[in-house]
Amino acid sequence: MAVILGIESSCDETSAAICIDGEIKSNIIAGQAIHAKYGGVVPELASRAHQLHIIPTVDEAIQQAKIHKNDVDAVAFTRGPGLLGSLLVGTSFAKSFALARQIPLIEVNHMQAHILAHFIEEPKPSFPFLCLTVSGGHTQIVLVKNYFEMELLGQTLDDAAGEAFDKTAKILNLPYPGGPLIDKYAQEGNPDAYKLPEPQISGLNFSFSGLKTAILYMVQAEEKKNSNFLMENITDVCASVQQRIVSILLNKLKKATKQTGVRDIAIAGGVSANSGLRQGLLAMGKQHHWNVFIPKFEYCTDNAAMIAIAGYHKYLRKEFVGQDIAPLARMHV
Ligand code: KG4
Ligand code: ZN
Repeated sequence: MAVILGIESSCDETSAAICIDGEIKSNIIAGQAIHAKYGGVVPELASRAHQLHIIPTVDEAIQQAKIHKNDVDAVAFTRGPGLLGSLLVGTSFAKSFALARQIPLIEVNHMQAHILAHFIEEPKPSFPFLCLTVSGGHTQIVLVKNYFEMELLGQTLDDAAGEAFDKTAKILNLPYPGGPLIDKYAQEGNPDAYKLPEPQISGLNFSFSGLKTAILYMVQAEEKKNSNFLMENITDVCASVQQRIVSILLNKLKKATKQTGVRDIAIAGGVSANSGLRQGLLAMGKQHHWNVFIPKFEYCTDNAAMIAIAGYHKYLRKEFVGQDIAPLARMHV
């Protein structure tokens, strides 16, 4: 039997999970409401909140899994990419836990873990598959050849898709994080109400900064005509923005399937919780006869279950690290 404790602390969620023989038994997530009033994650406040949350979160994960601390066989933690101060809290905790119990330590790449979240439950994709990983910090199309053999085919040249949602929300006077709210309003709006540009970027790379500027100019022009513009049209604006972000993502994904011939297609990361993206991918998959894999909501945004499952597969390979391991703000898939 292999009992893995997973720890995630790369951004503003402190999370701990227990995985027993590849099965997730608990996945506790402590969010940080403090950032909302600043309109984005404040790194120093995030690390302090991680320090407060880490021990109770791990205790709860162990309790919910109905095991004892001493039953844990290995600790897997997010090494990066992410905010260095936040990563340090999870890394230091994992190192101390492993040292105290003399058990192996496993480093996990956060972006690989988002993809490996697809191996938590059935249906699981088969290798090779394509994964569109869309989060607050990243937008990537990855060719997944095996559990830890991944090739980056394209990525954003500027803002990430989640950032496009969050920065647009700021323009629309919506609180952080804006993605879920834009999604909610979009469901009641007309996606064709406002024409927004699709950037012409070669290959499989993305760009979202031009879209953000186009939205800002559109809102400013409309507000000149009607100072209540946003209040009266928020659902149509959100629906139009969401439709454009989703079409940018899906058009590149379609291009990647043509380029690679791969037909197993997955999405991962916080933005994969978006209802427009989920519906759009299902429709496109049906049209092109793809096998589509969409994670459960709880495994889209940051969570330790994905760290624990990635850790489990490294445990089977005996891929352990020493106490000299340090977190990394930047890491490639
Ligand atoms: O993967 P994640 O939890 O954290 C990072 O590693 O960045 O992703 C967070 C991002 C945020 O930008 C948030 O606005 C976005 O995911 N997000 C959404 C939705 N839920 C979360 N974006 C659009 N629609 C959603 N329903
Ligand atoms: Zn993430």
